[in-house]
Amino acid sequence: MKYFVTTPIFYVNAAPHLGHVYSAVLADAAARYAALRRGRDALLSTGTDEHGQKVRQAAAAAGLPPATLCQRVSLQFRRAFEAADVQYARYVRTTDPDHAHAVQHFWRLLDSRGYIQKGSYTGWYSVPDESFLTPSQVTEEVRDGKKVAISSESGHVVTWAEEENYVFPMSRMRDDLRHWVRNHLDVRPAKFGRLLESWLEADLPDLSVSRPVSRLDWGVPVPGDDQQVVYVWLDALVNYLTASGYPGQLERWPPDCQVIGKDILKFHGVYWPALLLAAGLAPPRLLLCHSHWTVDGVKMSKSLGNVVSADEALRTYTADGLRYFLLREGVPHSDGNFSRKKAANLLNAELADTLGNLLGRCAAAAVADLLLQTVASLPAAVGEAYDEFCFYRGLEAVQAALRSANQFVQLKEPWVLRKQPEREAELHSCLAVAMETLRVAGILLQPVVPSLAGRLLDKLGVRPEARGWRHAERPCPEGGQLGHGSAVLFQKLR
Ligand code: MSP
Repeated sequence: MKYFVTTPIFYVNAAPHLGHVYSAVLADAAARYAALRRGRDALLSTGTDEHGQKVRQAAAAAGLPPATLCQRVSLQFRRAFEAADVQYARYVRTTDPDHAHAVQHFWRLLDSRGYIQKGSYTGWYSVPDESFLTPSQVTEEVRDGKKVAISSESGHVVTWAEEENYVFPMSRMRDDLRHWVRNHLDVRPAKFGRLLESWLEADLPDLSVSRPVSRLDWGVPVPGDDQQVVYVWLDALVNYLTASGYPGQLERWPPDCQVIGKDILKFHGVYWPALLLAAGLAPPRLLLCHSHWTVDGVKMSKSLGNVVSADEALRTYTADGLRYFLLREGVPHSDGNFSRKKAANLLNAELADTLGNLLGRCAAAAVADLLLQTVASLPAAVGEAYDEFCFYRGLEAVQAALRSANQFVQLKEPWVLRKQPEREAELHSCLAVAMETLRVAGILLQPVVPSLAGRLLDKLGVRPEARGWRHAERPCPEGGQLGHGSAVLFQKLR
């Protein structure tokens, strides 16, 4: 059975950073886990959000035609995700012709069902959020000695807009939306579900779904009106449909798990399902909402110059290192903090020392032909955590088992036992425990650090067909011999 996971699509106004990689890696780990544990045919979609005012302004600032900027930055995202071992089935660019076709088809469908009305918008617009705001969402602040209006949610400066456009009547969807959120939608962690429900209690103003060409010339044209382009959020949300073959036969729908950051919960928990319900399509089953990364305790921002680029992070930590750090240190329900020192300490301690040393110690003793014991409770504990998308908790459990095994090996001193032929049985059982711990850890680590786990299992001589979740749930039936390849899994960081 298919398991369809999506990441948000990323704005191409700037190069990918740590936070973007986190969204993608979290989704990728969720997909890999569904395949590993439940045998699901897991498919991930990702891509780039290339239209709208924000991207248009970035292109103007760079002195480039928007299409050139989009091509350049979209490729950077694609390369970063590939370098981070994010396995996607479809990479949707909103400038792809099949996507424009999907958007226009979706628009016509809404129109034919009476959900597109002529209207106008007078109020605030936040370009960084590409969002229309009600007066209650705007406050005043003094910045650089000047009074400015800002979005109270995002803190971004807003601009005044008065324009003719098309409108989607949100208020008409309110009852259906509430019913769906209460009865059919799973939001993780639960606190974001409660937040979503509170929004549905409040008024739902109608949503402007287009922008006049005179304001914005970079978007998908509204069918039948060359003076308007489709609002960038409607355009972007349809990417999930494009990824599943819309408007043709839907290969996978609805998404089983949509990974989003907390800043875009309203778009995915309110507007997106309202649009889908209006179009007669099923809304997603689950929203996995994650919090944000700060750097040394401060919000990442271009103006502060503290943005950790995806390139730098991948070069410094490797794909496995970065994935491990993000999923070990990141918890979905609250913001995570990145510091270079913390990343190096964590990766050195857990991947290089605790995990790496255990393998190294077995390798030094050279042979292990009996695998006697299993780390029996580990797959269940880790599975329970991964089911909640709390990868950090699963990793904690794996590390605890590895630490105990390391202590055990330290205590038994197999390097001493080796020199005493009469204690051969003891030597074998000691190595067997250590190797079994590594085997189970290797299998359970696959969704998080696929390449490192693969090398570990190679070294242990675990055959590719014996790397399923169920193989971790049973003790290894046969004696193991260390395979070839390096015993160094993670090169220590300085
Ligand atoms: N283009 C929209 C999404 C459209 S989806 C139909 C968008 N793009 S974004 O590039 O600004 O953000 C993409 C994702 O990256 C979001 O999930 C956002 O929460 C995430 N992150 C951006 N900065 C982040 C951090 N500092 N930390 C963690 N994730 C962050 O929104």
